[in-house]
Amino acid sequence: MSVVVWWLVTVVMVAVHSASAGVVELNWEVEYKLRWPDCKEGIVIAINGEFPGPTIDATAGDTFIIHVTNKLSTEGVVIHWHGIRQNGTPWADGAAGVTQCPINPGETFTYNFIVDKAGTHFYHGHYGMQRSAGLYGMMIVRSPKETLQYDGEFNLLLSDWWHQGSHAQELYLSSRPMRWIGEPQSLLINGRGQFNCSLAAYFNEGGLKECKFKDNDDCAPTILRVEPLKVYRLRIASTTALASLNLAVEGHNLEVVEADGNYIAPFTVNDIDIYSGETYSVLLRTHNPTPSRKYWISVGVRGRKPNTTQALTLLHYADAPEYEHLPYPPPVTPRWDDYDRSKTFSKKIFAAKGYPPPPEKSDEQLFLLNTQNLMDKYTKWAINNVSLSVPATPYIGTIRYGLKTLNYQKPPGKKIVEDYDITKPPVNPNTTKGSGIYNFQLGRVVDVILQNSNVLNGRGSEIHPWHLHGHDFWVLGYGEGKFQPGVDDKRYNLTNARIRNTVALYPYGWTALRFVTDNPGVWFFHCHIEPHLHMGMGVVFAEGVDQIAKMNIPNEVLGCGLTREFLMNRGRH
Ligand code: C2O
Ligand code: CU
Repeated sequence: MSVVVWWLVTVVMVAVHSASAGVVELNWEVEYKLRWPDCKEGIVIAINGEFPGPTIDATAGDTFIIHVTNKLSTEGVVIHWHGIRQNGTPWADGAAGVTQCPINPGETFTYNFIVDKAGTHFYHGHYGMQRSAGLYGMMIVRSPKETLQYDGEFNLLLSDWWHQGSHAQELYLSSRPMRWIGEPQSLLINGRGQFNCSLAAYFNEGGLKECKFKDNDDCAPTILRVEPLKVYRLRIASTTALASLNLAVEGHNLEVVEADGNYIAPFTVNDIDIYSGETYSVLLRTHNPTPSRKYWISVGVRGRKPNTTQALTLLHYADAPEYEHLPYPPPVTPRWDDYDRSKTFSKKIFAAKGYPPPPEKSDEQLFLLNTQNLMDKYTKWAINNVSLSVPATPYIGTIRYGLKTLNYQKPPGKKIVEDYDITKPPVNPNTTKGSGIYNFQLGRVVDVILQNSNVLNGRGSEIHPWHLHGHDFWVLGYGEGKFQPGVDDKRYNLTNARIRNTVALYPYGWTALRFVTDNPGVWFFHCHIEPHLHMGMGVVFAEGVDQIAKMNIPNEVLGCGLTREFLMNRGRH
């Protein structure tokens, strides 16, 4: 990079830093709106009228003061800041039933916390299936000492979209027998997609009838306008409800440099796989095409038999003509069930130099068997045969006030039954509902070994991207089949294991991660696939319970369930 460019980048960064002045204060109104996300009308949850919600641009160390007013009128709402650790403010994590009561219609709640770490992050609804309804947006936290050098950047927030509303989806999934919601109708890039009309045809032939959006329409693609011979940072986040994705840019390599807010040892690929809950930064170097032209950016489905067309947009070199025939078709998404390819990509990710290696030994191990089960003929996902049902009284309130009235059922066990055969459908499909939590003292090193298995009908195993709130973790390793203690743990990566907050569990395999219980609070750990979470695929970790009891937690987050009664009675005495 030339000296001049470097100077410009520095100036821009300083400007951003001082403009934020350490406090980001926002007033948000959350409301249902009619929009055309994929050129077909649908109901979205918008923030201040925007879908996706506004992009937050901040600097590490900033304080966020976000006043969220719920204008949904018939239901509560919360907002989770995905990737922010909430050290000292666990009540601001925005997980309904875990860290707070949903904000009532008409009421305003203020999230007040510090974003201590830079990275590409996003935020989203975490109540019912509101993320599926489009309650999400980008959250960029810049480093005051950015070590990456680039000339410009773009945000790409990826999601999937159904024509059926999220309430209907919720009901379908909770029906007996369960009615599956099917594959998404569209994939969206920054909330924009094109259903039933080919963007390729649009650009090549001046458009099919249905595809005649104007530039300012809801569903017109965000076009990435670039100059030749420059470096661009693409900040990519996936908040899909279901789909695992692959992103490729025609004719350009991608240098992967950041994952979930941590730098990684850079490596170059043609395309990236991204699972729900993950974020990446990639550097894209533009060349000097003569004549100047446009290139495809395509996003397609991986890991499930796709029934959804690729999402497309364009990398548009500055002086390329607006309308012209693109010489090549969009990049083809790799075969959906080529898991080896996904694993090959994943195996390239290592922590950048300077990150601490994981502690050498762990104090506790949790073996979490992921199964699909039937409970009373309802379809559920369960962990060690317990399907999570989040209570009406948020855990943080129960713990804060030491409520004995709440007798949580025992947590799911810490171990898998020894002879469980992961290649067969569950022998005992009957699972139980539970609200139990795992309790940890502070300063413990915990290993979690996620174990995948066969689904109910015996015909496969699904990908589950697991996301941990309040922490980053080291990914120690993963492998095929059933985890073998004493063998597989000998091969853990203890030198340059990548650090992130979301990791995929592959079909019929295991994934091991390690984290330190250094953040007093109550933290959700769950599959980031919205229907799976809805059907019980998660667990809850409580850390430093005695610290929580001493915390100054705003009463507003506790005004529901048994804590409300407790607060009211206390008021009377
Ligand atoms: Cu982005 Cu609990 O999730
Ligand atoms: Cu899942």
